[in-house]
Amino acid sequence: MNSSQTRSHVPRETIDDIRSRSDIVEVISECGVVLRPAGRDYKGLCPFHDEKTPSFTVSPPKQMFYCFGCQTGGNVFTFVQKYEGKDFWETLEWLANRLNIDLPNPDGRASANRKRVTSLEDLNRFAVEYYHNQLLIDRAGASAMQYLKHRGVQLKTLRSFQLGYAKPGRRDLIKAATDKGFTIQQLIDAGLIKDEDRGPQDRFWNRVLFPIYNERGVPVGFGGRSLSEEHQPKYLNSPATVLYDKSNILYNLDKARQSIYKKQHVLLVEGYMDVLMLAQSGIENVVASSGTSLSENHASLLKRFAPEVIIVYDGDTSGFQAAHRGLHRLLSEGLQVRIALLPEGEDPDSFTREHGVTAFTELTDKAINLIEFQIQAAIQRHDIHRIDVKTQVVKEVVETLLNLKNRVERNEYVKYAARELHVEASVLWQELRDAGFKETPISNQKRRTKTNNQKLTPRAQIERQLIEALIQSPTLISYVKSRFHYESFTEPRFVRIAQLLWEACTGDENVDIQALINECPDEKLSAFISGVILQRIPPPNLLQARVEGCVKKLQHFLSQDLEQRVRSHALAEGADEMETLEALVKLSNQRRALRNRDTVDTRGENPNEGGS
Ligand code: UTP
Ligand code: MN
Repeated sequence: MNSSQTRSHVPRETIDDIRSRSDIVEVISECGVVLRPAGRDYKGLCPFHDEKTPSFTVSPPKQMFYCFGCQTGGNVFTFVQKYEGKDFWETLEWLANRLNIDLPNPDGRASANRKRVTSLEDLNRFAVEYYHNQLLIDRAGASAMQYLKHRGVQLKTLRSFQLGYAKPGRRDLIKAATDKGFTIQQLIDAGLIKDEDRGPQDRFWNRVLFPIYNERGVPVGFGGRSLSEEHQPKYLNSPATVLYDKSNILYNLDKARQSIYKKQHVLLVEGYMDVLMLAQSGIENVVASSGTSLSENHASLLKRFAPEVIIVYDGDTSGFQAAHRGLHRLLSEGLQVRIALLPEGEDPDSFTREHGVTAFTELTDKAINLIEFQIQAAIQRHDIHRIDVKTQVVKEVVETLLNLKNRVERNEYVKYAARELHVEASVLWQELRDAGFKETPISNQKRRTKTNNQKLTPRAQIERQLIEALIQSPTLISYVKSRFHYESFTEPRFVRIAQLLWEACTGDENVDIQALINECPDEKLSAFISGVILQRIPPPNLLQARVEGCVKKLQHFLSQDLEQRVRSHALAEGADEMETLEALVKLSNQRRALRNRDTVDTRGENPNEGGS
């Protein structure tokens, strides 16, 4: 989408309007993050990093969020951008859409595209309802109802999943949808009908339909189960469309996300029926990969909701192999993975029906980690006591260990593997190094995580205080701007923020910090600014005093700089001694004045004015 070009004309007022009408607490909650009131703020588990205790804070009065754990922060735009992986203009559109606001369009192109997508969504909603009614109301749906009943699907389940039935006819949907005003082309675009030699035909006929929703609950396609052995394939799915890309969709993620978030792990199963039967038994944190192999997109989608995935694939060879492949995908995305092994020939659906939900929960509680899984697999495959076999297994295990992103976990796995394989842990570490593994010294890692609280020089600490005060009280920016060039700051971060503030501070209008956050090109900077706004803001008179104090101190540093420069210049160039001396005297007088007097108006005298 090249919406950035087509959207950049959207007036500032519209953007502000969308921002002020999008309540950040509502939006974040709608995205599936569980927030609990904590004083004036809300707190929850941060969706941007793994944590056990909530450090993600949302402030309704400030309309900002900030995570004290990973220093991610911003306003409602920043949140949606990060969380939904959208760019600014897509985010604007997303929020506008949510509020039913129409964004203006210069050329109509972006709008045509959006209209097309919206109409396909509408068509899918219509189809879901149509097929659902066919199942519940139409006489022809009786056989399908019978089939579902026979499989143990209760009415409430079939309602909540909006299951449907496509009758044996080949033009039922075509007729119903065109009667409603949808076009053949739209039906084709949505993958609901096929254009054949004998004319357009419904894609699904005589099948039980499972509507497939994206993670926001928009219906994007269908999976259709045949009712008999003869009718193949067993499941017929919607083709790829503008809305439906199977590498991006996990069945049931829309309904499961809250529960996944609460439980902090997700159960990954293969089939639609597995999801249904588990949900019916009260296990809600389940999604299905629907027979497709797990993609990188799937993995990163899951990572947004929970740090851990428990794979519960079918107890057969293909399930075992799929689990193995999926596992590596998930691991390389940095997720923790465990695998629950089902008895031969069972899937979660059949297992729960036969043995009950308690047995199923026991099984997932006992899910094994990947090293266990590999060792089990290896042991099953060969005689582990033979030296050559053991060498081979060690190799496989080392490969998996290499894939791990989490260092604590790697340590644990190495210990475990060493125990199970009866080898020394040091042997495994050596194998890892031989295979190209480089250990990051702990001190290094610590330093990396601490960058934000890094020790600042005394001068940079004052710079920090000043910048923070200006962010908290933008009316003071022009006062400081007239005294300092932004390049006078020493800490690169503050140079960049000062530059942003100075550039935003043009006329008489106050700088709009919220807008600044949206326009800020650097995520780290906008997060810093958000964090500052979320701090308890001191009263204005205190802020003003702080700003004046910081200005004085920094001017002192600046004149010291200049003195230094004059001295070294004099030494290097053999400049006029008298002149140099005079300059030095003037500078040190100035410095003394700054130190001694309470208020000094240095306007016009600032040696650094106008910048370097
Ligand atoms: P399974 O063959 O395990 O089906 O395929 P199932 O879920 O146990 O279904 P029932 O119990 O036989 O009705 C697992 C998943 O793989 C996809 C479907 O998403 C199915 O739920 N699949 C399977 C297809 O897409 N096409 C097929 O022909 C078969
Ligand atoms: Mn199955």
